[in-house]
Amino acid sequence: MVEEELTWKEPVQRVQALAEKGLKEVPPSYIRPVSERPCLDKQIHLGDDGSIPVIDFSGLEDHRREDTMDQISRACEEWGFFQLINHCVPVPVMDRTVAAAREFFDLPLEEKQVYANKPWSLVGYGSRIGVTEGAILDWGDYFLHYLWPLDKRDVDQEWPRKPASYVETLDEYTHALHNLCSRLLEALSESLGLRKDYIGEIFGWPDTNLVLRINYYPPCPSPDLTLGVGSHSDGGVITFLLHDNVPGLQVRKGDRWLLLEPIPNAIVVNIADQLQILSNGRFKSVEHRVAVNKDTVRMSLATFCNPDVDTIIAPAEDLVNDDNPALYRAMTYGEFLESLCRDGLKGKDYVESFRR
Ligand code: OGA
Ligand code: NI
Repeated sequence: MVEEELTWKEPVQRVQALAEKGLKEVPPSYIRPVSERPCLDKQIHLGDDGSIPVIDFSGLEDHRREDTMDQISRACEEWGFFQLINHCVPVPVMDRTVAAAREFFDLPLEEKQVYANKPWSLVGYGSRIGVTEGAILDWGDYFLHYLWPLDKRDVDQEWPRKPASYVETLDEYTHALHNLCSRLLEALSESLGLRKDYIGEIFGWPDTNLVLRINYYPPCPSPDLTLGVGSHSDGGVITFLLHDNVPGLQVRKGDRWLLLEPIPNAIVVNIADQLQILSNGRFKSVEHRVAVNKDTVRMSLATFCNPDVDTIIAPAEDLVNDDNPALYRAMTYGEFLESLCRDGLKGKDYVESFRR
């Protein structure tokens, strides 16, 4: 992409700074059309057979293996989302990671502002994706940087220098998450009937990118009119989400939106677009969005496992035959990313645009 092609066409407003002014009403640029509003009074929590699956990852290691594999397959096929418990990322590491992210956002605006991101890159301190003039904006700020591979993460320039513990803490989290991702990609390969290294090899494991987006959703005077992140599916392979236990994430199930009920110490996992394409539509990359609160800050840390821009992605040959023709054309991840930086998040439009 030619970098100069993209410019901010209007000033970038930090939502945290806006919220701290104590507004009585949300400004018009954050107000969603009625059809996109979060319906907070009708958030659906379903019963045992109908809520986002919770999977005990330690079940892969013992006599529960077959049953656990089954649960993983079903979650990926029917929900595209699950909450993972007993997942081998140590709880103290998760706690320290969320706390370090919070400390960064608690710094004065000027200290965060030095990391302000550019319109052609999501890396740094940001408050919008896409440059479209007059776009409806999300009620949230973010901070994005690489965690992995080591030669792409620029700890000196791109990671917060405060709090002092940030680098050490995030490094610890990265290694634990890399290990979890490795094991999960193997399980997903097996569950598709592929060699256990299959998905990893396509996406360049162990050097597949892990990119962290810390989301900060300030309190909002009119949470019923706006969203912290508008409806979207994630563009990469798979996403891991830590949060501060404040509810807000809503997941699409058919034509309804379900509120994910936070389970302390669980990691939320969702299938992203490239895995939907590779699995030829068997695994679902499901739309989700974020509702915000009137009185409470909500924070989440999404780690996106993303291929390199020149990785060619297509339905796995072993999954395609006369009865199951390829549903998507081959494309590079770069093509995909370019549309995203230009046009912002748009439901599932990107993955659908690669349909044959
Ligand atoms: C994201 C996302 C959900 C959340 O950052 O892509 O979907 O709960 N975040 O913050
Ligand atoms: Ni997302």
